[in-house]
Amino acid sequence: MYSGKSDKPRKPVTVASLAKMKASGEKIASLTAYDYSFGRAVDAAGADFVLVGDSLGMVMQGRSTTLPVTMDEIIYHSRCVASALERALLMVDMPFMSHVNADEALRNAGRLMKEGGAQMVKLEGTGEQADVVRQLTVAGVPVCAHLGLRPQAVHKMGGYRVQGRDEAAADAMLEDALRLEEAGADLLLLECVPAALAGRISRQARVPVIGIGAGPQCDGQILVLQDMLGLTAGHVPKFSRNFMPDAGSIGGAITAYVDAVKTGDFPAAEHCF
Ligand code: KIV
Repeated sequence: MYSGKSDKPRKPVTVASLAKMKASGEKIASLTAYDYSFGRAVDAAGADFVLVGDSLGMVMQGRSTTLPVTMDEIIYHSRCVASALERALLMVDMPFMSHVNADEALRNAGRLMKEGGAQMVKLEGTGEQADVVRQLTVAGVPVCAHLGLRPQAVHKMGGYRVQGRDEAAADAMLEDALRLEEAGADLLLLECVPAALAGRISRQARVPVIGIGAGPQCDGQILVLQDMLGLTAGHVPKFSRNFMPDAGSIGGAITAYVDAVKTGDFPAAEHCF
């Protein structure tokens, strides 16, 4: 049970400790970061893992989608964040087209771990990615499988839309999630999924399920750091919340977010689909 930040030694978070958190009912709190300074702030505030997401294409590079992000770019940002982390686990996104088959996925995941310091890779996909996940697992690469809205498939999906709204789509997503878990995924991430479906998947999956726009029944939450600090110009997704006005400082806002996730205060009804 979470009872606020303590003075106990900050033991590094591992895949095993994330699994224990699910088992004990402690919510997992995470954020993106793309550089050393923010990586330090997120780590110091007690986030359990940090994602170097390919959202860096939009947040850091001002692109309109995540598609142009390259392996070299994400490795650069990963290395910057890796230098900052003392406790949080470092998850890094596999860019668009970097895991089209198992050979490519193995080569590129190897680069993220060796050159970027990643401790887990995240890949967007459906159950069709099960073989890739299996091969990565055999090679000793921890994997997070990202389902629901998959921003790398924005053109295929026809926009950034909530996924799994009808019964057939919901059943298919649950099946995909369990297939990816069976293939060895250590974590599942659901983006823009109705809260009831995310709850179903979280209850059926043995591994932790992290949500972004997927409601409070997930085992943990993630947000894009710049969204929750109120730094995003233009559209901010309905599922995010700006923690800055109440906190008044970056460190305070990140700590407030971590506390709100841990206590179940975030996400609230207005952040859900
Ligand atoms: O790239 C990213 O920031 C992500 C989050 C939206 C989870 O994948």
